[in-house]
Amino acid sequence: MARILITSALPYINGIKHLGTLIGSQLPADLYARYMRGRGNEVLFLCATDEHGTPAELAAAKAGKPVAEYCAEMHGIQTQLVQGFGLSFDHYGRSSSPQNHRLTQHFAGKLEEAGLIREVSEQQFYSPTDDRYLPDRYVEGTCPNCGYDKARGDQCENCTKQLDPADLIDPRSAISGATDLELRDSKHLYLRQSAMKDDLDAWIDTKTDWPILTTSIARKWLHDGDGLQDRGITRDLSWGVPVKKGDAPWPGMEGKVFYVWFDAPIEYIACAAEWAEAQGLGDDAWERWWRTDKGADDVRYVQFMGKDNVPFHTLGFPVTILGSGEPWKLVDHLKSFNYLNYEGGQFSTSQGRGVFMDQALEILPADYWRWWLLSHAPESSDSEFNWENFQASVNKDLADVLGNFVSRITKFCRSRFGEAVPEGGTPGEQEAALAAELETRLRAYEGLMEAMEVRKAAAELRAIWVAGNEYLQSAAPWSTFKTDPEQAAMQVRTGLNLIRLYAVLSAPFIPSASARMLDAMGCEDAGWPDEVADALAALPTGHAFTVPDVLFAKISDEDRESWQDRFAGTR
Ligand code: MF3
Ligand code: ZN
Repeated sequence: MARILITSALPYINGIKHLGTLIGSQLPADLYARYMRGRGNEVLFLCATDEHGTPAELAAAKAGKPVAEYCAEMHGIQTQLVQGFGLSFDHYGRSSSPQNHRLTQHFAGKLEEAGLIREVSEQQFYSPTDDRYLPDRYVEGTCPNCGYDKARGDQCENCTKQLDPADLIDPRSAISGATDLELRDSKHLYLRQSAMKDDLDAWIDTKTDWPILTTSIARKWLHDGDGLQDRGITRDLSWGVPVKKGDAPWPGMEGKVFYVWFDAPIEYIACAAEWAEAQGLGDDAWERWWRTDKGADDVRYVQFMGKDNVPFHTLGFPVTILGSGEPWKLVDHLKSFNYLNYEGGQFSTSQGRGVFMDQALEILPADYWRWWLLSHAPESSDSEFNWENFQASVNKDLADVLGNFVSRITKFCRSRFGEAVPEGGTPGEQEAALAAELETRLRAYEGLMEAMEVRKAAAELRAIWVAGNEYLQSAAPWSTFKTDPEQAAMQVRTGLNLIRLYAVLSAPFIPSASARMLDAMGCEDAGWPDEVADALAALPTGHAFTVPDVLFAKISDEDRESWQDRFAGTR
């Protein structure tokens, strides 16, 4: 039994996420966590909302709410959706937690002691009308490049040129529209990432089994252009973690907060502390997952994220950890994903294009989405959601192959032998061949799940379902019954055991259908099988079962078309 710490990238608090975000980290992380628990390992699976930064402030302003209230509300909404999708986090925390405030300030203090922080004086717009500094997105004006008059301080949306707020012609506050802006000197803290470039380089070189997608992004940032740059870790915002050195004030930094990308990954650690508190446990309970001097050296730590998050996790966060000089756990494996597109384009929050988590659950149960998303995970390249493919995959894999198998066996047994595992007959060659095939496939499936090869694991699981269908088709207990009812009883018994086996193996992908299958089989024991041959004889004769309701309904053409329309965008 191993101890495995698993984190999923923390979704931003501003708004409900679409299915592309879900398959980019939370869902595959859940697959892995469920599998590892199913194999009897001790798992701590953590995620949280990422609540700081300009996007949170702006979204709250748009909703007309104080930012703390907005975040609390959105956290509640996201928590419900997390539950709706069966994401089995041990704790769903908040980066605005007191634990994260404390730890973020603690790390900043340690980095400063290690000489890894320097002060930089920058010119920044101050708005007397708004009584505050205006970070990038809070300044608007005319683009010096194309003349577009609603360019933002970080970028012109019209010509895509990257800008500095000071480049804008006729700058104004995006909050009040005030034009009496003053350029003032403002001091900021920079994390001296460049000082740790060689350490990072050497560390990445040891990660020979990481996905190429992960290491190539890290190496690009380490080597391209001028190499790894120092990074500003403070902002002139009021919402966030106040800049302090541990408990002590940081002279000259009054009224500033840490940059969201500095405090967010630290929440991975703080979330464990939140978890311990919620469980009524002490500090040792979470420190044994995170401190190598307190037992975490035998923890395997796996992170899941979309590719855009890789630089922050391979460079920024490791600098925080290594630079602190304290024995914190570093990531052991980093699984990253490409993007999921939507019907020939991109998901778009502003245009309402694509399916968002709340809408998905309104139209179909979570397992339908989990299965499609995981079996089409954007691993080796970007992938695309389209409705025809979704319909075909649900109707074929889930309804025809798995659902139909379960319903055929249970109904046939009920009509010929009653609702209990029938007695009689002895397994023969066909059953031995089935067991042998499943044995090989099961070991392959385990290997793929271990390796986080999500799509390939789904394909192997599907092949395991298909093997059962083919067995049933060729054994044909409905014909056998006419001449040899004992033999038919044995075939049906094999089928009922297959249902139980499928429930156990499929649980990481489709947990609620699996629970219904186990429940129908009257099974408490969901233990992972050692040998397939034993698993196929696990249910004792006479053991009662029930015929479950339809596991998966087919998606009709009418439904598919209406959903295609509904989610096409431009609301
Ligand atoms: N909120 C970020 C995003 O959605 C991810 C943050 S991950 C963490 O891109 F490292 F900050 F935790
Ligand atoms: Zn422009």
